[in-house]
Formats: sequence, structure tokens, C-alpha cells
Amino acid sequence: MSEIKACIFDLDGVIVDTAVYHYKAWKRLANELDFDFTEEANEKLKGISRKESLALILSWGGVDKTDAEKEELARRKNNWYVDMITAMTPAEILPGALEFLQALRQSGYKIALGSASKNAGIILDKVGLTSYFDAIVDGNLVTVSKPDPQVFLKGAEMLRVEPAACVVFEDAVAGVESALAGGMKVVGIGSRETLGGANLIISGLHEMNLETLKKL
Ligand code: BG6
Ligand code: MG
Repeated sequence: MSEIKACIFDLDGVIVDTAVYHYKAWKRLANELDFDFTEEANEKLKGISRKESLALILSWGGVDKTDAEKEELARRKNNWYVDMITAMTPAEILPGALEFLQALRQSGYKIALGSASKNAGIILDKVGLTSYFDAIVDGNLVTVSKPDPQVFLKGAEMLRVEPAACVVFEDAVAGVESALAGGMKVVGIGSRETLGGANLIISGLHEMNLETLKKL
């Protein structure tokens, strides 16, 4: 068993509650196209790219669009989403996230971001957390989406830490699978029913501390 040396965090739904903003923007788009989707269906959108999310949503609505129309729809959704995230402040950091990042830093752990979002940089900047990360891997750097392990393996590589010595924090089914496929430990943020494969399930980073981390 390797000693834990690094933590890799998903962003949306783990450090900030932007998963809700993604949901609102996709729902608005679906409603404009005259259909709706449930919060349960929304779970499938967590962790996957904008393009793949749109393809799933259109398939749920039974709607066919050309590539050019899809691009326009994704652009429209992203504009609404960006309007919401540019208004974010540090008050929107989820409970316990800042405290846990500070504790990790003080104890010499390496920290990376592993997010599918192309907007991760703006969000970290708005909430004032950019300086906590030794490496930032976002949707602009990856070529394949979670559940492929690429995003987290890239993070581990940039931190120069072997995957087995990394713990990933994830709220998405695809993200938990991605971390496990990369040979990392994973803490699921959410419910046991959705994130079954994780090594530990917590409801938020306020439940996390260095002692629990060392026992993983
Ligand atoms: C992930 C979210 O973090 O980023 C997904 O969980 C989202 O819901 C994906 O689709 C891509 O985000 P963006 O900001 O590039 O549209
Ligand atoms: Mg997430």
C-alpha cells in the first residue's frame, strides 16, 4: 500500500456547487426545445464534457440536430452558465473545502485539479482558490472524458506522484470510475447508491480531515 502523497479534486460539485448551475442551464436549453429531464437523469451529465452532455440531452428529448446546430446550442448553454459563474464569490466555496485545502498545504501534500470543465480557470479565479493548486488539469487539456482516467493520470504526472499515492475527490459516477481506472483511491461525495465503487463516501469535504485521508 502506497502512502498518500497527493489529492486530486474534481471541481463542479466538490469544491463549488456549480453542478447546480450546469443543471439549470441544461434544463433551460431542454425546456426551450420543448422537453424536460429529471434531476436523476442529470446525474449522468456530471463529469462528462459539454459536447457529450448535449448529445445525451438531445437523445433524451428525441431531438435530432445538425453539427452546426449542436454547436450553437452548446454555445447558448455555455453563455448562460458563464453568466452564472462570473457572478460567483468565495462565499460559494462548499463547506469544508477551503479548510481541507489549507490543511493539505500545511502538511505538504501536493494538490491538483482534475476537471472536465473548460471553465475551471474562471471559477477558481472567482472563488479565489487558484493558488492552492500545484497543477490544474481542465477540459482544455484533456482529449478523452471521464470515465477514461486521462484527466487524473495527467494530474498525477504533473505533480510527479505515482497514481497509487493519489486520492481523488469526486461527485460524479463517471469521475469515480475514472479514478479507479487510473489506479487511484477515490472519495465519493454524494450517496452510496450512486457512487458505490468509491473507497469512502462522504456528504461533503466538511467531513474530511487528514486523519481520515491517511487511513484510506
Ligand atoms: C464537469 C461537469 O465538471 O464539466 C459537467 O461535471 C460539465 O457537468 C463538464 O458538462 C464540462 O463543463 P464546461 O464548463 O466545459 O461546459
Ligand atoms: Mg463534479
